[in-house]
Amino acid sequence: MSLQQKQVQDYGENPIAVRDSDNYQNEYVEGFVEKWDELINWPARSSSEGSFFIDTLKEHGAERVLDTATGTGFHSIRLKESGFNVASVDGSVEMLVKAFENANRKDQILRTIDADWRWLTRDVQERFDAAVCLGNSFTHLFSEHDRRKTLAEFYAALKYDGILILDQRNYDLILDEGFKSKHTYYYCGENVKAEPEYVDDGLARFRYEFPDNHVYHLNMFPLRKDYVRRLLYEVGFQEVITYGDFQETYHQHEPDFFIHVAKKAYQKP
Ligand SMILES: C[S@@+](CC[C@H](N)C(=O)[O-])C[C@H]1O[C@@H](n2cnc3c(N)ncnc32)[C@H](O)[C@@H]1O
Repeated sequence: MSLQQKQVQDYGENPIAVRDSDNYQNEYVEGFVEKWDELINWPARSSSEGSFFIDTLKEHGAERVLDTATGTGFHSIRLKESGFNVASVDGSVEMLVKAFENANRKDQILRTIDADWRWLTRDVQERFDAAVCLGNSFTHLFSEHDRRKTLAEFYAALKYDGILILDQRNYDLILDEGFKSKHTYYYCGENVKAEPEYVDDGLARFRYEFPDNHVYHLNMFPLRKDYVRRLLYEVGFQEVITYGDFQETYHQHEPDFFIHVAKKAYQKP
């Protein structure tokens, strides 16, 4: 599908039946991508996440970083500003175009790569010290097969002692108790209403309403935290530390987001 054709989201007659890992291609249409940075609010997000990702990457001695879910470039640009050598992957060309423009405005040239995670190493042959998959992106995969394949591709893109930082919404909370976002850490745009419109064990359909009354949706798979941790171990990561809203200790149902830091270096049992 060409860039011009992708103006509006189309979930067909039964939007909650759309549970497909390929669908992200239809969701990030030009209008939504244009508005994504309103949803994020870059300055608020920078100050709320502080230097967590930068510090974690530096602690692990990372220099070459693969941003696997570049989106509009928020983390790629921050990481480049902090001195990392960054390659910026996304499977949405609309997102990569926007990221490139955002970087340009900051006098940066992003190295963008249009690639789908499920066959990432077909298009990206280098090996990295670290990979990041941030902003609740992994949730776009709807089958266990795609999730395992993606994690295996991320694992393969890392050097022998590389790390993967992957985050997710606290879906346990949404599934068990309903939606109670504090809205403070990630999607910080104050004037954008972001909430789930429909939730079951296989779908969290979020509705994003912007001040100009434009409405967009994202259909996502509600990942339970321990399930993601298990998959990370099963594809070969040796240690997985999970933070809740950037803190190492937290009550299970408190954080809005979990951040998994998965290490590849072999550890003797
Ligand atoms: C929720 S956005 C997050 C973007 C950015 N990391 C942020 O935090 O603002 C998810 C991104 O993942 C990308 N994505 C989703 N599924 C993908 C796949 N299978 N392969 C490559 N990119 C994918 C989308 O195109 C989108 O840019």
